[in-house]
Amino acid sequence: MSPDIRVPLLAVSTISSPILISMSVVIASRSRAFASPSAANAGAEKVRNRISRRFFDTAISFLDIKTTQYNLQEGSGHLSVIDLHSHIVPGVDDGARTFSEATEMIRRMRDNIGSNSTIVFTPHYSSSMSGRIVYARSERANLFQDKIEEEFPEGLSFLTAGELMVRGHFLRHMEQVRYPGTGWVLIEFSTGVSWIETLIQVRRIISRGYNPLIAHPERYRWCRRKRSRLIKLSKMGCGALVSARSLSFEKYAATARNLLRDGLCHAICSDAHSPRDYILDGRLKKKLEHFSRIPWAVVTLTMPELILNDMKLPELPLYEQKKIL
Ligand SMILES: [Fe+2]
Repeated sequence: MSPDIRVPLLAVSTISSPILISMSVVIASRSRAFASPSAANAGAEKVRNRISRRFFDTAISFLDIKTTQYNLQEGSGHLSVIDLHSHIVPGVDDGARTFSEATEMIRRMRDNIGSNSTIVFTPHYSSSMSGRIVYARSERANLFQDKIEEEFPEGLSFLTAGELMVRGHFLRHMEQVRYPGTGWVLIEFSTGVSWIETLIQVRRIISRGYNPLIAHPERYRWCRRKRSRLIKLSKMGCGALVSARSLSFEKYAATARNLLRDGLCHAICSDAHSPRDYILDGRLKKKLEHFSRIPWAVVTLTMPELILNDMKLPELPLYEQKKIL
């Protein structure tokens, strides 16, 4: 844990709440150096400083999850959010194709979400990719972040991590994908992955000292068949991040909605690949409020802040209920 976030965490841990006590159990400190320290570490520092000032308030708000609906900046027209999953880095994967398309996406985010928001770039990697390709992609993403920070000097904050496709026996490149200064890694599987294979891979990742964040669980057959499996994964220390983009796909939309409705995910991210995709703006907030029982601010700010502060996430479901399929 970085020293700059120690004070607010200690303040939080003095509150006698079982939720906060479990939240304040800090995952082991990590001394690994980030692959490309310049822009990424400076950006992470900037974001963490902002979070540390704000963390106490949002952690207190988390106490109210099961009893009260609350919204940050209600009525202001803008929302502070942290988008942990996006494909904006141009020309590296199936996300933005050009720099101008990437800037169009960011401009839209700047104009539609709050100025106190953070966007994390998570280009695709694969555990079977060669180290050379991974290094080149990671360098390109960090250079892109530098350029974007010049282009958008005010308003949004940016970080660079990655989304790792975990395949077969290969399990590499987690250093390149982890969220800066944390042990959290965003992972995905092929959509046909079995439940057993998922458990095996998750255990392997945890045994190496990382904490898996399952990207778009709504896309996996094991989750669509039995959503409560996410409870088991959360007990193992995993997070679950629904993609807003899944709401545009008939095959995944119902499961995505049900996960949000039943509190079976920790956060919603844009997973935006193009300027036409959902972003975490007021329009999406309105849509979610029709079916989600978890307050918007919890899934777009409070939980992502825990992740960027390298803290444990609460076990699922976030919302108590009688029966989960
Ligand atoms: Fe993605």
